[in-house]
Amino acid sequence: MAGFFWMLGLTLLAQGFLRTLGDIGVGCKKWVPDTEVKGFVKCVECHPGNRLVKPSGPNPQKLCTPCENGTYTHQSLGFKCPSCIQCVGALVHFKDCTPKSNTQCKCKEGLRCGDAECTFCTDECGKGEEPTKKRDCRPCPKGTFNDQIHQNCKAFSTRCPDPTHIIVFQGNASSDIICELPQPPTTLPVTNPENNPVKPGKRGSSSVSVELLCLFSVRVKCIFLL
Ligand SMILES: *[C@@H]1O[C@H](CO)[C@@H](O)[C@H](O)[C@H]1NC(C)=O
Ligand SMILES: *[C@@H]1O[C@H](CO)[C@@H](O)[C@H](O)[C@H]1NC(C)=O
Repeated sequence: MAGFFWMLGLTLLAQGFLRTLGDIGVGCKKWVPDTEVKGFVKCVECHPGNRLVKPSGPNPQKLCTPCENGTYTHQSLGFKCPSCIQCVGALVHFKDCTPKSNTQCKCKEGLRCGDAECTFCTDECGKGEEPTKKRDCRPCPKGTFNDQIHQNCKAFSTRCPDPTHIIVFQGNASSDIICELPQPPTTLPVTNPENNPVKPGKRGSSSVSVELLCLFSVRVKCIFLL
């Protein structure tokens, strides 16, 4: 039973939340009594997307009004709604302007927003390079790499994250060092008299025959055995 009421409460809460997000409130949201005029209230905060019409009056609903089409406001007590921007040049339209928010632009393919509001675009830097203050890209400086799109170059790792691994690649502009588990020495497929595999690090009489064999066959592989 308690669970049921808990769920009901959550549902009502969610609905209320969605409702306030959906419509835009009209008029004054918070007000205080006007100490100078009896029966008047002073608005201290308009509903979001509303501008102030007059600071004080008998009806809080009439103190603020929603921004007209093509204008918006982020202020809670401003008299003016600035015009929404148009996305021009490298900027293309992303989201319509609303009374509460300016038009949102995005950048054309291959370009990046230059700031949080996306008021200008910069080149998109690829792997192996990084964005500069001059809004272009430069190759990663020596000793650094960048393996992501449009990120700053970072110094190479100096050791493997796993201490049992060894560095098998020293890194390049677009890749950090690469570590791997060391490969155990490969044993040559040679038969030895006792038919025992040659244990690395422990040399028996059998290894002599292996070394001799190596001299005449595959020298390179032999190195592992010595
Ligand atoms: C604002 O735009 C909406 C939708 O485009 C329209 O329904 C409304 O009448 C317009 N209001 C004004 C004041 O132009
Ligand atoms: C850098 O190293 C990575 C990983 O080995 C490789 O895939 C990539 O092609 C290299 N890039 C350059 C520019 O050499």
